[in-house]
Amino acid sequence: MTVKPIVLQELPSDLDKSRLPQHVAVIMDGNGRWAARRGFPRIVGHQRGVDALKDLLRCCRDWGIPALTAYAFSTENWGRPLEEVEFLMTLFERVLRRELKEMMREDVKIRFVGNLAALPHSLQQEIARSMQETAANSGIQFTVATNYGGRQEIVQACREIAKKVQQGLISPEEVDEAMLENHLYTVGIPSPDLLVRTSGEMRISNFLLWQMAYAEIYVTSTLWPDFDRSQFHEALKDYQGRERRFGKL
Ligand code: IPE
Ligand code: IPE
Ligand code: MG
Repeated sequence: MTVKPIVLQELPSDLDKSRLPQHVAVIMDGNGRWAARRGFPRIVGHQRGVDALKDLLRCCRDWGIPALTAYAFSTENWGRPLEEVEFLMTLFERVLRRELKEMMREDVKIRFVGNLAALPHSLQQEIARSMQETAANSGIQFTVATNYGGRQEIVQACREIAKKVQQGLISPEEVDEAMLENHLYTVGIPSPDLLVRTSGEMRISNFLLWQMAYAEIYVTSTLWPDFDRSQFHEALKDYQGRERRFGKL
């Protein structure tokens, strides 16, 4: 495999450093189509997708964006052929094991969100290890949504709150937005300012439903394995051209 030279190492001069999104979320879609167009099996697209994600993470670090969240596997993705699901689980585990040293060197703090207890045991162990070892890193907060579903996340938060009400620890009147937020998987991570979805689909696909309330959405027809720094540059230019009103005038 030829390694692409990393261009655009510095923040491009047409971007305003003071108005960068503080948290970018990505729906990495289109791996299967990328592979199919080249006559490869879908899994090749997933492998290439990992390279694209690694470079985006580095790019966020290089350009001063402090948080990145990537959608790696949805609660609905279990509905895919067993072979693909198993390949993905093994890929996640392998990549985590392989990249831990690099994440330490690059000061990445990794965190996983989703129903992790339903993942293969060996993957759960690798996840726990990577989160523990990188816990004190502060270069960039990297969140990976794995077996993640926005609806499922809200349901489990409600269940935990209901238990506390039942135990008499809190009253129903005390339940507010802040409390719900504190029971989401993403507790402590600010909501995304920018959502990027690749491969042209204009939907959220159950990703960060609560957190996306005021995110700016950018959709590109580029397939995920082809998403590079120049594409991200375009997304950020578009973002900086938006007027965020948050319901006000
Ligand atoms: C996104 O690419 C990766 C995952 C959902 C794991 P897809 O696998 O959805 O690729 P397409 O959408 O079929 O092209
Ligand atoms: C969203 O992509 C999930 C991930 C990128 C992990 P999908 O390919 O699963 O979404 P749909 O099926 O097009 O909505
Ligand atoms: Mg898809």
